[in-house]
Amino acid sequence: VKTGLETLILPVGTAGAEAAARTLAAGGLVAFPTETVYGLGADAANATAVAHIYSAKGRPAFNPLIAHVADLAAAERIGRFDARARRLAEAFWPGPLTLVVPKTDDCPVADLATAGLDTVAIRVPAHPVAEAILRAFGGAVVAPSANISGHVSPTEAGHVESDLAGRIDLIVDGGPVTVGVESTIVGCFEEPMLLRPGGLSRERIEAVLGVPLARPPVEAGSDDSQPLAPGMLASHYAPRANVRLNARDVAPDEALLAFGPARLPGLDAASAVMNLSPAGDLDEAAANLFGYLRSLDAKSPRSIAVMPIPEVDLGEAINDRLRRAAVAR
Ligand code: TXA
Ligand code: MG
Repeated sequence: VKTGLETLILPVGTAGAEAAARTLAAGGLVAFPTETVYGLGADAANATAVAHIYSAKGRPAFNPLIAHVADLAAAERIGRFDARARRLAEAFWPGPLTLVVPKTDDCPVADLATAGLDTVAIRVPAHPVAEAILRAFGGAVVAPSANISGHVSPTEAGHVESDLAGRIDLIVDGGPVTVGVESTIVGCFEEPMLLRPGGLSRERIEAVLGVPLARPPVEAGSDDSQPLAPGMLASHYAPRANVRLNARDVAPDEALLAFGPARLPGLDAASAVMNLSPAGDLDEAAANLFGYLRSLDAKSPRSIAVMPIPEVDLGEAINDRLRRAAVAR
């Protein structure tokens, strides 16, 4: 682990993109904002730099990473796009959609970054700072969420700092993110497959595809067999506190993560209450999810009770994250 680094934190608008590109080219680690969550970036072609990502995060080494590029032309240098994959890219890039496609023959992405798979996960983030960094750097940047493995994903630069300061070279501060959950991952296989629900809803993808997205054959995390998207491992998003889902009351000293009007028995005895969206707006809830989980967890409550959240639109991704957070560890 590279520890003891003096992590430089640059506000956006201070030539941060140029500094980031230079650091990446030198094999360094740069945390940067995307529209979904902050990513921890390294030069995708530099296996040593990629290894530093895993060690800085303490991340299981078999988790393949997403390659970030500035546009579809750059994506086509690392992955092979059939007509359907190209249609999705044209409809939703830049945006919170990751496509898993076969690698090109001369794909420059390090094997470590794809965990030895012959496919590569690619996305074009919709964030001006990410785009400036990718254009200044020129190559692909692999980037998992910029948090210690198992912690909630960072939605502002301060979250990255508290997890990774001293372990990475640079944090580019672009303010809070807008989407707040990771990208949706679609496997562009013979049957297009939803590998991870995320910031782009299944409904919008299916409307463009004209066919329903298949489910992975293995319900990831439900047994020991290797899931298609190992990032779906059950404990991936867990905060330290126990998480109790579908709460219809609050126990004494429990923290409450509310959604919509919160009028639960026991509310007055809650140790803390944060409401993902008092108005019941799922996009707003997604944007608040990781930050609020992190804030409640920091108060070391007996447990975190979570009100029911509808399983539609971004609610699917929110519930997916919350179910993983609720797995006992
Ligand atoms: O929004 C996002 O996607 C954020 C930002 C930083 O872009 N990144 C992110 O990366 O969430 P990460 O490393 O936390 O999640 C990557 C996911 C994992 O579930 C991994 O298993 C899956 O992508 N993945 C990567 N390559 C894959 C492949 N070739 N086949 C299947 N799944 C893959
Ligand atoms: Mg992550």
